[in-house]
Amino acid sequence: MFTITWKNAGVTLTNIRDTAAKCKSRILALRQVVERRAYTDAASSLVLPYDVSQVRTTQQLARRCRDAALLVVVGIGGSSLGTRAVQEAVLGTITPGMPVLYAETVDSDATAAIAKRIRSTVRDNKRVVINVVSKSGTTMETIANFLVFLDEFRRSKLVTMVVTTDVGSPLEHLAKQNDWSLLTIPDAVGGRYSVFSAVSLFPLAVLGVDIERLVQGAQHMLGHCLRTDIASNPALLLASIAYLELKRGKTVHDTFVFSTKLEGYGKWYRQLLAESLGKTQDAGILPTVSVGSTDLHSVGQYDLAGPRLVFHRFVTVDKFGQDVHVAKADGIFSYLQHKSFTRLLDAIVQGTQDAFSRHKRPFIQIAVPDLSADTIGRLLQMEMVSVMLLGHLLKVNPFDQQAVEEYKITARTLLGR
Ligand code: PA5
Repeated sequence: MFTITWKNAGVTLTNIRDTAAKCKSRILALRQVVERRAYTDAASSLVLPYDVSQVRTTQQLARRCRDAALLVVVGIGGSSLGTRAVQEAVLGTITPGMPVLYAETVDSDATAAIAKRIRSTVRDNKRVVINVVSKSGTTMETIANFLVFLDEFRRSKLVTMVVTTDVGSPLEHLAKQNDWSLLTIPDAVGGRYSVFSAVSLFPLAVLGVDIERLVQGAQHMLGHCLRTDIASNPALLLASIAYLELKRGKTVHDTFVFSTKLEGYGKWYRQLLAESLGKTQDAGILPTVSVGSTDLHSVGQYDLAGPRLVFHRFVTVDKFGQDVHVAKADGIFSYLQHKSFTRLLDAIVQGTQDAFSRHKRPFIQIAVPDLSADTIGRLLQMEMVSVMLLGHLLKVNPFDQQAVEEYKITARTLLGR
């Protein structure tokens, strides 16, 4: 379990309990969704961690791709952010085995560079897997990138296309026509809630992430997040505190991660919160991401002395994979001698929290034990339930995204569709 410390949040236990009590009916409803084990509700992403057959199907296909020398993921938003979040946290930005490249936006230089890398890999007689991921099967950025790669590499025996999409989408049709490998996403599972579906499980399994441990972590967390008391339900605690912070004018919620490996998680959470709840003029929270301690040298001044609009969530890691030491330091730097980086970072986190507390800037700390697949599964699941509960408190439907659709429709119209 994670340790969530909220004594500097500036809210009282009574307020938290009263707010949490308003979520009881919603938690009971979510519990029923999980118990039904069916993809029939907007909250059905909660069923994904228990879907043994989708994990198995994904693993089988991933095993057949493990000999590739390069993985290219073509997708955007909910179709790439979850994969990046888990990959970066568990494997790092530079993956130890197979390299992975993401084609997300429409960016000529980026797409040309990926195409060049595919070309050189194929020239070396090595295999490439291109996984195109789009729930709708129509997102312009994704389709445009995929068509560029398809044009050049469709006839190469060394390039394997894997399509992940909804049943009935235009992309599914294309995959069937061309006999490409196909993975499907349950219709009721929205993009930003799809990290435990084939959307992310397939590329993560290809890269060597233990996806069984990932979904087991999510299952374990759901066991807590479907309880109705804040003492054992961290999602309920987080949702209640976030709601109270918003009510007292903290409209910016910054997730300040003290591990560069968690930046992807921060960006994934930013989308989850913004797209799920940013729907009314008075209830929206602007989620931001900062990386410690780097961004203390960037936004730290604003955080401590600027407008009192920000509520911070410091996310810290108890145990890093490796612990670097300063072997030797002389003179005025001697205080660093023999110190481990874990010790230095602890001091930075403590110093940051002391300063925030002195300036009466509200914050909580979420301490996770490590960056294993199991822990990340728990973390992402906790955040998804917490956003669902926050939606309930704010009386906002956390599952649609009308405004995102607007730009997509206009852009397609401008291009003559
Ligand atoms: O969460 C969402 O619904 C969006 O961010 C989508 O994931 C994003 O727009 C990409 O859509 P699609 O997966 O249909 O290509």
